[in-house]
Amino acid sequence: MKIVHAASEFFPYLKTGGLADAVSSLAGTLADRGHEVSVFLPGYRTALEHKDAAGAERRLRLKIEMGDQFLSGDVRVFSPRKNLTVYLICREEFFDRRAPYGNGERDFEDNADRFLFFCKGVVETLRLADLQADVVHGHDWQAALLPLLLREAERRHGVTLALKTLFTIHNIAYQGLFPRSVFARTNLPEELNNMDGLEYYEQTNFLKGGILFADRVTTVSPRYAKEIQTPEFGCGLDGVVQTRAEDIVGLLNGVDTAVWSPGIDALLPARYTAADLSGKQICRAELLKRARFSQKFNGPVFGIVCRFTAQKGLELLLANKAFFLEQECRLVVLGAGDKRYETELATLAAQAPAKISLCARHDEAMSHLIEAGSDFFVMPSLFEPCGLNQMYSQLYGTVPVVSRVGGLVDTVTDADEQPDHGTGLMCEPTAESLREALEGALRLFADKPRMAAVQQRGMGRDFSWNVAASGYENLYRDSL
Ligand code: ADP
Ligand code: GLC
Repeated sequence: MKIVHAASEFFPYLKTGGLADAVSSLAGTLADRGHEVSVFLPGYRTALEHKDAAGAERRLRLKIEMGDQFLSGDVRVFSPRKNLTVYLICREEFFDRRAPYGNGERDFEDNADRFLFFCKGVVETLRLADLQADVVHGHDWQAALLPLLLREAERRHGVTLALKTLFTIHNIAYQGLFPRSVFARTNLPEELNNMDGLEYYEQTNFLKGGILFADRVTTVSPRYAKEIQTPEFGCGLDGVVQTRAEDIVGLLNGVDTAVWSPGIDALLPARYTAADLSGKQICRAELLKRARFSQKFNGPVFGIVCRFTAQKGLELLLANKAFFLEQECRLVVLGAGDKRYETELATLAAQAPAKISLCARHDEAMSHLIEAGSDFFVMPSLFEPCGLNQMYSQLYGTVPVVSRVGGLVDTVTDADEQPDHGTGLMCEPTAESLREALEGALRLFADKPRMAAVQQRGMGRDFSWNVAASGYENLYRDSL
């Protein structure tokens, strides 16, 4: 099949979180399975500077209609692997920036225009380059207007650009919610500017467009597909999601095992397998050193890697400060984002630098070292569409301590509830429940045979992308 993906993140060209990993490994797996895959991304500075893009061909000039204006741009094309072509939709004014969505605290003020331009650029490229896609698959709010814009362009030009459209919700908490005036710049028919269209409480909601108008809608775990139909997790769009209840499928993300396998991980100081964990000890020693802890410490090490945002349950973690200050354990946190969390975590680390360490930045190598060198990975998310780190943790022999929400439920088995099958420890998303799970971790660590069994089961899990890729293939075929 000819499959087109459009997203705002793609590993290794731009990554702030799991969206980049998920889209990249899905596209790569589909390419490996013989499909002709095209990936559209905004022409971010980091993408243009990446070595893969060095020989990129400047293929098309774009003139994009935005309301009563036309904005110019161009398209650069390169092919990083067999069956995979990357199209960068470029316009310096929009995408040549240090970060993709905002500067520290605030989102960029022109985000509506930036991602509208991106979506329109995708549609215009499909038309000008005559790509004749079977399926156009958009991800998250930044690509959510694609199905509508695509059909509108087909109507105007009397052509077929794609047979079917698919939309994946990676996170319903980010909706692309803008002032109502933005609608005029979509150049979509006025009849979509109401509550059956893009309007949402007197604003324009991009995500709503993807949910309502794609031929098929997916989310990144079965549990999340159900959760977002409830007020508790729907972030105000549960009613909208319910109208598509029959078309929504939850397909669990996988792990790109070419990047995330302890046996071949080039970012680690040593590699290891379930049969021989000695390399994990070397990773642990390196992690303790990098965190400036004593390397003689032989108690439990807790690791955290995440975007600093409320979703990740950092409030619950901070409410459990006393645990990390009082218990004989170590905590290493890597993350970036919300400055408030950064400040609070920095204060905590300064209180006990011999026990708690904070790395406030995006650091790919450090994220691998934490996954490998820790004994436990803490992920007390308030909600989690899928979550990747709990899967990485299991494969790296690091026991995940997670809350019972979303994809975490679909990927971790609680060792207390199922002693013979457990791969992690689970709690409710509350501070008290997290405290109990952390205490459970101390007990598990002290019980060496039980700890080893939990680790071994996690390392034996199959999280390969082939399962999800087959799921998407079936959906593409079904919808065709
Ligand atoms: P989300 O997509 O909500 O951020 P996921 O668990 O799906 O959560 O994916 C997070 C991804 O981003 C993982 O690959 C994780 O290692 C990575 N990541 C998050 N923060 C950082 C950071 N500060 N440095 C390096 N990698 C990070
Ligand atoms: C989102 C979600 C995360 C998911 C990722 C990839 O960023 O927050 O749970 O794993 O997308 O689908």
